[in-house]
Amino acid sequence: MKITVFGLGYVGSTLAVLLSRQHDVFVLDKNEQLVDAIRNDRSPIGDAKMEECLQKEALNLFTPKEVAEAVDGADYIFIATNTQLDPEAGILDISSIHRVMESVISSYDKSAPPVIVVKSTVPTGFTEDLKRRYPEFDFLFCPEFLREKTAMEDVLNPSRIIVGYDETSTNGKSAAEKLGAAILSCVDDSSTPLLYTSIPEAESIKLFANSYLALRLSFFNELDTFATVRGLDSSLIIKGVCLDPRIGDYYNVPGPGFGGKCLPKDTRQLIADFDNAEVPELVIRAAVEENELRKEFVAEQES
Ligand SMILES: NC(=O)c1ccc[n+]([C@@H]2O[C@H](COP(=O)([O-])OP(=O)(O)OC[C@H]3O[C@@H](n4cnc5c(N)ncnc54)[C@H](O)[C@@H]3O)[C@@H](O)[C@H]2O)c1
Repeated sequence: MKITVFGLGYVGSTLAVLLSRQHDVFVLDKNEQLVDAIRNDRSPIGDAKMEECLQKEALNLFTPKEVAEAVDGADYIFIATNTQLDPEAGILDISSIHRVMESVISSYDKSAPPVIVVKSTVPTGFTEDLKRRYPEFDFLFCPEFLREKTAMEDVLNPSRIIVGYDETSTNGKSAAEKLGAAILSCVDDSSTPLLYTSIPEAESIKLFANSYLALRLSFFNELDTFATVRGLDSSLIIKGVCLDPRIGDYYNVPGPGFGGKCLPKDTRQLIADFDNAEVPELVIRAAVEENELRKEFVAEQES
């Protein structure tokens, strides 16, 4: 199969290396240095495990100079470009995805349009909007759950593979199943759970998963703030709380407040999605507000 990946950041580069174990993968990034890194068997994200794969495995990874070479005849085109939070609008900026679609439109084989797979995190309903705008393509949404520190390792050993497809499209289900099988054939564990959903369900899975993680961090941060003010040992309280198997002893270490590229923006996007759907929302908003309180508390403690 010929697969094209736009974007060579954490998500695109790990995906490209994974899929090139079994398929012909063509990579593109507007930052030519990242493409050069792949050309020279170096990881564009400085990931040691990726470098090991690039140098030791027989990968079918190509770095074309022209977009047309990458897009023409592709079976699947992945979009793994950045979607930062627009601080003024309070929602994700998805303009990079439209830029990619413009490149695809000018180069694809009209007799056999590729299936477009959105891998970037997007607002719920966004991929269906893309389909309305570009009706000549089938779209899938395939969320990514990697952690940046262990990006390649996580992509080789994912907790699950989710593929969202358009149930109203004649080819949607078969395109999703072919992709699911293609990904499964490349990961280290062939018994990795594979779940097919509608596109907005797959988009929601990504945002709700990250919002749950944010919520959990806010909970343990709040516990720690309480313990600190009362002069109690928070680690003992956490240990006692987490011995309950329904709670579990993981993802429970208090810190200065959640940050990074994903949790702040995905929580805010999900709140915006609740607002757009006019569904009352309290829990995720509370996690975000607690995060601000926590940052202030830690800063005061340190001053
Ligand atoms: N980093 C993570 O931990 C993580 C995890 C899951 C999902 N995501 C989501 O996946 C998406 C990508 O994240 P990332 O961390 O890989 O981002 P990144 O910023 O590391 O990489 C994105 C890449 O896309 C390239 N790009 C932008 N526009 C382009 C265009 N028109 N053509 C070609 N290349 C273009 C940029 O140059 C950049 O190298 C985001 O939506 C993010 O929210 C990220």
